[in-house]
Amino acid sequence: MSEHAIEWTVNGQRRQDRVEARTSLADHLRLGVGCTGVHLGCEHGVCGACTVIVDGRAVRSCLMLAVQADGADVTTVEGLAAPDGTSHPVQQAMRDAHGLQCGFCTPGVLMTFAALTAGEENAGEEAMIAAMSGHICRCTGYQGIRRAARALAGLGAGSAEGSAAREDAA
Ligand code: FES
Ligand code: FES
Repeated sequence: MSEHAIEWTVNGQRRQDRVEARTSLADHLRLGVGCTGVHLGCEHGVCGACTVIVDGRAVRSCLMLAVQADGADVTTVEGLAAPDGTSHPVQQAMRDAHGLQCGFCTPGVLMTFAALTAGEENAGEEAMIAAMSGHICRCTGYQGIRRAARALAGLGAGSAEGSAAREDAA
């Protein structure tokens, strides 16, 4: 078994870890770092539940090796809210739009939306809706998640609730 030293940042904390060569980023985040909000569904890149942000991009952490995260800046769902507990805008939008039920798919969806709305650039509604195709949700029928995506894209009434009301009335 070969172990490698990695130096990286997880949710704003600089860390040094030793990881086995074949350990996935998802497994190391869950078992080595304690970020159990990184959910594992399919473990082969289909369901999106394990999505985290690596150097600004949404990544399926079941398809990446932990050793490949050497030098990277990684954010998991545990790192989304502000230190005082204030929800991140994507968390608020999903809550307002009733975009979750059991919550299994939710961390992955949140991380994809967070990556697409980071900084001054917003990927826009089309890209947000398209990105949902990489996430499997067994509960919601996707309508609430779509409303959250629309609200985050800054279209329509500009709030998830306003968007929800319009769709419900349609
Ligand atoms: S667990 Fe990674 S995509 Fe399903
Ligand atoms: S809310 Fe249950 S899988 Fe999406």
